Amino acid sequence: MTINPVFTDATPIAAIDAEQQFRADVLAGLSAQQKFLSAKYFYDAAGSDLFEAITRQPEYYPTRTEIGILDKQGAEIAATLPARANLVEFGSGSTAKVRRLLVHLPDLAAYVPVDVSESFLRSEANALAIDFPQLAIAPVAADFTRAFTLPDGLSHGAVAGFFPGSTIGNFEPPQAAHLLAHFGRVLGRGATLIIGVDLVKEKAVLDAAYDDAAGVTAAFNRNLLVRIQRELGADIDLNAFAHRAFFNVAASRIEMHLVSRIAHTVTVAGRAFRFEAGETIHTENSYKYTIDRFRDLAAEAGWTPRAVWTDSEALFSIHALVRS
Ligand code: AVJ
Repeated sequence: MTINPVFTDATPIAAIDAEQQFRADVLAGLSAQQKFLSAKYFYDAAGSDLFEAITRQPEYYPTRTEIGILDKQGAEIAATLPARANLVEFGSGSTAKVRRLLVHLPDLAAYVPVDVSESFLRSEANALAIDFPQLAIAPVAADFTRAFTLPDGLSHGAVAGFFPGSTIGNFEPPQAAHLLAHFGRVLGRGATLIIGVDLVKEKAVLDAAYDDAAGVTAAFNRNLLVRIQRELGADIDLNAFAHRAFFNVAASRIEMHLVSRIAHTVTVAGRAFRFEAGETIHTENSYKYTIDRFRDLAAEAGWTPRAVWTDSEALFSIHALVRS
């Protein structure tokens, strides 16, 4: 089964060396009127560790809330999947969340984690195999936003998808709709998609979640500069940049920025970039939805909302969608 790419206008990543792509993206981002860097570059080894640390901060409610929903309502969520389904997890990362579904899915045909990091996929699949010895695991090393092939034989059974973590929030809403439509093509007609979506809430709660008192999110944000420094031979004064994160109510998104404290010049790969005092590099958007707004987005992408679960404080949502 071959899947079509969702972003047909994107540069084919395989054609270009990853470091060259990183350099080109950084130079282009720092040349823009509003300087920006792509949030996908947060996740080198240090950045992935920092993200794990973020999920343990008291202010960062999404991870523990989503896991709480899975712990409490996992049986009901799992019951929306067809019998003997193949379960495809997009951008699987850690298996902590899917484990909470797998305990309720003893008849699953196969679990198919899709992730760019091959070594991570292998170690997670090995750990999972120990705890779920009957489970068929068929990992796929691929970028889930692009064309990839599911392992042979899966096309025969029912297919379901799992996309937890509110990763969907990192995409601009039109791109999020494209991605959901892409998942629909990957999984096929009649498929079910279980997706975690962070909810709009009081601004103070959101602001704190992305600016924890221990400074872990600040370190995560600044790690982008550390990475540029190390990988692209840049000369960056890390102390010249402050972490700023806030909920932009009108756009319904968290924005993260690195703010230049002073007027100064940064050199990357031999090119100079001027910063005014207070000028920012926009490093991330994390969109927050209401349940209805997310359902509308899903419907736009060919999915019919079937059920939704939230925690008692309505901080986070998990949706079951069915592809017509
Ligand atoms: C991994 C995209 C879900 O937006 O909450 C956490 C990333 N950035 N703190 C999020 C993140 C800063 C996270 N996602």
